[in-house]
Amino acid sequence: LKLYVPRDAAALAVDAEKVAEAVLAEAKIRGTEVELVRNGSRGMLWLEPLVEVERDGVRHAFGPVSPRDVAALFDAEWGDHALALGPTEEIDWMKRQTRLTFARVGVIDPLSLEAYEAHGGLKGLRRALGMTGPEMIEEMKESGLRGRGGAGFPTGIKWDTVQKAQADRKYIVANADEGDSGTFADRMLMEGDPFSLIEGMAIAGICVGATQGYVYLRSEYPEAIHVMREAIRIARAHGLLGASVLGSGFAYDMEVRVGAGAYVCGEETSLLNSLEGKRGVVRAKPPLPAIEGFLGKPTVVNNVISLGTVPVIFEKGAAHYRDFGLGRSRGTIPIQIAGNVKFGGLFETAFGTTLGALVDEIGGGTASGRPVKAVQVGGPLGAYFPRALFDTPFGYEEFDGEGGLIGHAGVVVFDEQADMLGMARFAMEFCAVESCGKCTPCRIGAVRGVETVDRIARGDADAIPLLTDLCDTMKDGSLCALGGFTPYPVLSALMHFPDDFHARGKEAAE
Ligand code: NAI
Ligand code: SF4
Repeated sequence: LKLYVPRDAAALAVDAEKVAEAVLAEAKIRGTEVELVRNGSRGMLWLEPLVEVERDGVRHAFGPVSPRDVAALFDAEWGDHALALGPTEEIDWMKRQTRLTFARVGVIDPLSLEAYEAHGGLKGLRRALGMTGPEMIEEMKESGLRGRGGAGFPTGIKWDTVQKAQADRKYIVANADEGDSGTFADRMLMEGDPFSLIEGMAIAGICVGATQGYVYLRSEYPEAIHVMREAIRIARAHGLLGASVLGSGFAYDMEVRVGAGAYVCGEETSLLNSLEGKRGVVRAKPPLPAIEGFLGKPTVVNNVISLGTVPVIFEKGAAHYRDFGLGRSRGTIPIQIAGNVKFGGLFETAFGTTLGALVDEIGGGTASGRPVKAVQVGGPLGAYFPRALFDTPFGYEEFDGEGGLIGHAGVVVFDEQADMLGMARFAMEFCAVESCGKCTPCRIGAVRGVETVDRIARGDADAIPLLTDLCDTMKDGSLCALGGFTPYPVLSALMHFPDDFHARGKEAAE
């Protein structure tokens, strides 16, 4: 009997470890021989722990399974049971996706290099090794891949800058400081398919001439840290990393460095300072990290998902990847649906799905059953979208056109009970707490922002233009996106939900 029980942190949080133990204990009592694979998560988080049974090469899903259900599932011979969901790939949520970056996540044992290769792994690297650096850059540019950390800068152009920079050493840094609210794609990829990140970083290294890489991983992700470190050790033992990558003569090695939990360390220059052992303060740009990055050397800083997508681009070819998508947003995007939603999880799809489809159809509406009031897309610095904007297609330019951003593709749903004045206050408060303190509009502005929202809440209508004025200053004058983007949630809350501001103010005044 071949069974799969996820080892992803989201599954572990709902007792997957106990389910795995119960499966082994029950099998022992019954004298049933089981092969237990600890996989990543399939991304259907409302069904975790999702146990799968492989029968005649087809995987059947059961979930959510608690340790108490295990005996009954054995009684039913993992067949007809109330928790049975049918073949995993046939579940509507799975069927509607286009899984390129996440093709192996939840499917394979994350630490089996053999399983990785059996599912297409290392094909991209082998192909890349037969190409010249400029040919690899062309492939990246043609794929249309843009930075999945949030800014959407073309990855091929970034690599080109680093490749052309003259230096004795260059570096690859994976930004795994996933700090956006409601996001977990980086974590799921590292926990579910760490070799894809390693392969992507090795391709990047060989392409630009970097021999050393770092995964800057947040301390809040202990499982991901463990899996990545193990995967790097295995990769090294198999010649995938080291003095001669897969016998090619190219040297490339990498290691995990753990951050200490500051949101601003997700900003690339602050991250580099932290990586160098300094305080996580933002550096002024220029110089770009592509020219002067880690230890002053040319450095590719890419998000985990950008780098984790590189292998599939080289495996299937740039054209295959580019053919998915909408406008200038090419390929697929792993969207993370969270907050007050019935079916939360990771949904990878080609760009172009509307926000409404994501929330109402795929997410199934709110978990509370009350109407959706607002959706925040792109983390704590993203704008709040009302239902009136639900026909906005998921794409960089499309969201920008509506005064928002897709950021790292986190979608957080709120029902009608959400107090949007409170959310605007929270955005300012978050900025004040997380500010690195380097520039005035953010350091002082965020504190004044909290006070100004409080004045509005007390019925001072004059404070509303003051708040918009302050937001303009923060937008135009901040050194990085933390101060510069905080106005997005604040102003979108004010613009789309004015009643929450005026009514609260009036109430307080009376
Ligand atoms: P940015 O627009 O300043 O830069 C984008 C990237 O392009 C940077 O890596 C920059 O160095 C690079 N770049 C620009 N011109 C270049 C050139 N000519 N050659 C080579 N490289 C070049 O944006 P930034 O500040 O890096 O990121 C802001 C974004 O971060 C926001 O959109 C936000 O959504 C996102 N964000 C993501 C978080 C997460 O948890 N993933 C958390 C907070 C913000
Ligand atoms: Fe630091 Fe805020 Fe200025 Fe960014 S905007 S550099 S976080 S003070």
